[in-house]
Amino acid sequence: MAVEGRVTVPKFMAAKAQGRKLAVVTAYDWLWAGICDAAGVDAILVGDSLAMVVQGRSSTLPVTLSQMLYHAELVTRGVQRAMVIVDLPFLSYHVSPRQAVRNAGQILKRTEAAAVKLEGGVQQADTIKALADADIPVMAHVGLRPQSVRMLGSMGKIQRDRDLLLADAQAAEQAGAFGIVLEMVSQKIAADITQALTIPTIGIGAGPHCDGQVLVGQDLLGLMDGFHPKFLKKYADLRTTAIAAIQQYATEVRSGEYPTAAHSHD
Ligand code: KIV
Repeated sequence: MAVEGRVTVPKFMAAKAQGRKLAVVTAYDWLWAGICDAAGVDAILVGDSLAMVVQGRSSTLPVTLSQMLYHAELVTRGVQRAMVIVDLPFLSYHVSPRQAVRNAGQILKRTEAAAVKLEGGVQQADTIKALADADIPVMAHVGLRPQSVRMLGSMGKIQRDRDLLLADAQAAEQAGAFGIVLEMVSQKIAADITQALTIPTIGIGAGPHCDGQVLVGQDLLGLMDGFHPKFLKKYADLRTTAIAAIQQYATEVRSGEYPTAAHSHD
């Protein structure tokens, strides 16, 4: 059962105790956000994955705070019910907790977003606490952390160090995070973390025992070319549908079949 009415941070947190699974999807613009909202998801993440999905970059590192602000504004304009969470991009919170509060505060001041997300647990505990103390709802993100790609050397590897993962998740909760993304975590460890925490866990590549799931919208609709990780279920093949429709349009323009009198003004 979905959360009732406009989804707020307290309602999102309460879903765990109520046994309601949370459905989260990414969006980066007004049109897409409106579609996700109409579909009734609980939260929309303006992910820094927009660097790869929208900007065609090879990692999430280049996206800037002003670009995140721009996309957050577009998304919040298209949403009536879902809670909007905005990623803090790389280097917008790493310098100091003060820097994080200033930058996250801009997101809440300049958009209708409800919350921010940052990557890290133990490492970012002071920053999570500073944000929570400033009444800025913050979601943590542990397991695979795409912003650490240069340190990790690669993406997509399953995280299996139970003690480190649990310590990260507990540090985030204790510091005041209202929720936590678990990315590419073994399903058994994700289940243990979910049981150990009172805040909701939102999994991506972390199995079925999390309190909710998040997917990149373009992935679940089959729009991305050549991306087939094990965790991804494609609910549609919109890339094939879109290419076929545009090919048909081009064919009809070239043959003179489109437009007809029915598409023309007298
Ligand atoms: O940026 C993003 O889209 C994310 C999700 C994959 C969790 O952080």
